[in-house]
Amino acid sequence: ILSCSFSTSVMSNAIKNVTVVGAGLMGSGIAQVAAQAGNSVTLVEVNDAALQTGLGRIKTSLQKLTKKMSKEEGEKLLDSTLSRIKGSSKVEDSVGQSDLVIEAIVENMDVKHKLFTAVDKAAPPSAILASNTSSLSITEMASVTNRKNKFVGLHFFNPVPLMKLLEIIKTVDTSDETYNAVEEWGKAIGKVTIVCKDTPGFVVNRLLVPLLAEAMRMYERGDASPRDIDTAMKLGAGYPMGPFELADYVGHDTTKFIIDGWHKKFPENPLFKPVGALNKLVDEGKLGVKTGEGFYNYKKGK
Ligand code: NAI
Repeated sequence: ILSCSFSTSVMSNAIKNVTVVGAGLMGSGIAQVAAQAGNSVTLVEVNDAALQTGLGRIKTSLQKLTKKMSKEEGEKLLDSTLSRIKGSSKVEDSVGQSDLVIEAIVENMDVKHKLFTAVDKAAPPSAILASNTSSLSITEMASVTNRKNKFVGLHFFNPVPLMKLLEIIKTVDTSDETYNAVEEWGKAIGKVTIVCKDTPGFVVNRLLVPLLAEAMRMYERGDASPRDIDTAMKLGAGYPMGPFELADYVGHDTTKFIIDGWHKKFPENPLFKPVGALNKLVDEGKLGVKTGEGFYNYKKGK
């Protein structure tokens, strides 16, 4: 019932060739789900070593997925998916046939502007351009292109092959035709889509980041411990992870980067005010699960 769609068949299969720029955590996942759904995918990285790392990540992820299948079925899925992904280290040469170009590179507006200037010049006029940014303005990103009506935010969640949600960010310039095409594509690759205006953090992060910050402020005030706040939110609000567990999982550098960026842009908003406990952890290099310590300690034996 959830996947019931009322869109017309006019846009059906409009997007077949997809270029994903950036083969990191998110880009490799996006390339994988697109290829699994039958798209021809070109994956672009800064150099061959980074590309191979990204392709390796896709292979590992597919191998996990195929574990539950028969050997024959698993091999078929692995081979057919990988055969639809080709790599490139030159963005200009990789977008000529693209229906959709998705950017998943470093979270920096200047670097993204440089990329989209090049992509806009090299991609066919019909191609839709999209960013997977978590915290930057889609409108500002699109401003360097000559196709603001064909620019949209496509915000995936980590890990991409497992997380069902796709936030589609429609700016005031995004055309209905563009929106309909990416919505249909989102469903075709197995995601549940929602639409949101171009606002800081879109839906999920706009609610989640202030929640994490407020939990940390609560701890700073000495109102309750991280452990008790997590237990309270899991058992009292039905959250699968408490705010401190989630913040440790996301990485404190990422959360700090997002809050600092929003605070700079919207200094009056109390939800975006810097958080001392968060800044301290980042200063100490305690970034959460990935460094072995954050609010909790993940090192063996502790
Ligand atoms: P990452 O650091 O894992 O990957 C970024 C990749 O982009 C790197 O491999 C880097 O070599 C490559 N790259 C940088 N500049 C490039 C260029 N000019 N051309 C081609 N490749 C280039 O980062 P991650 O986590 O995958 O994030 C990428 C984007 O996705 C960011 O905008 C981030 O805000 C967004 N995002 C991240 C999520 C997460 O949970 N990590 C969730 C949703 C969105």
